Amino acid sequence: MKPDIQPNKIAVLTGAGVSAESGLPTFRDSHGLWNSYSWEQVASPEGWRVRPAAVLEFYNERRRQAWLASPNAGHEAIASLEAAFEVVVITQNVDELHERAGSKHVIHLHGELAYARGTSEARKRYRIDGEPITMGQLCEDGTQLRPDIVWFGEEVQFFEEACSHVAGAARVLVVGTSLSVFPAASLVTMAGARAQKVLVSLEVERLPPGFEFLRGRAAEVLPALAAKWLEDERVRIAQA
Ligand code: APR
Repeated sequence: MKPDIQPNKIAVLTGAGVSAESGLPTFRDSHGLWNSYSWEQVASPEGWRVRPAAVLEFYNERRRQAWLASPNAGHEAIASLEAAFEVVVITQNVDELHERAGSKHVIHLHGELAYARGTSEARKRYRIDGEPITMGQLCEDGTQLRPDIVWFGEEVQFFEEACSHVAGAARVLVVGTSLSVFPAASLVTMAGARAQKVLVSLEVERLPPGFEFLRGRAAEVLPALAAKWLEDERVRIAQA
């Protein structure tokens, strides 16, 4: 049962492309991470089992970069929408740039670099900011600390909640994702038939049905889009 559309709600689904102009690498572009690393070796439970030190090193470098990065105009434009709308950011990204730009409601489907967790089921997590995790660093339950990241083959976090937010949004904005990883990519199918649906990216393989495609860089396209949506809302309220 799909929830009713909330006229003032915007659901934003982001991927690595929204952080590209903050200097953080994407995955599948020509200089993407998966062109230099094998995700099976550094982002899977099997990779962790076989060579945990290599996995820690991969994420230590990404955590260091993310910690030093700053939000770009794309992150800031998304945050600016909160002046007139209820905005939920559902991100595949593991950096904190949406939060640093001022977004108050951010759902991380694939975990967060700034946290470590134990390897037991308890999943006790610890904030580590930009610090490295080393072999032998243990959780209080005695298990080796690992990045608090969802690896390929592991269960995505908060997915049901994310589906509900997209289904109830009057506007669905998708930014900087190749929509090639599931179940995150399936969120676009949860958008209401009557919702305004926009996808911002440098290119798109298959435009999801009902979506308008705005080709361009997030830091270039989003400020104008956010300003238009805010102005439309101002006029709507003035005429109400
Ligand atoms: N502005 C907007 N879009 C951009 C920009 C930019 N400056 N730069 C790149 N893009 C677009 C690319 O065209 C591409 O469509 O962002 C998308 C990046 O796609 P991917 O590299 O596949 O990243 P993403 O979709 O976030 O990957 C999803 O895959 O490996 C897993 O867990 C990882 O969360 C990641 C998931």
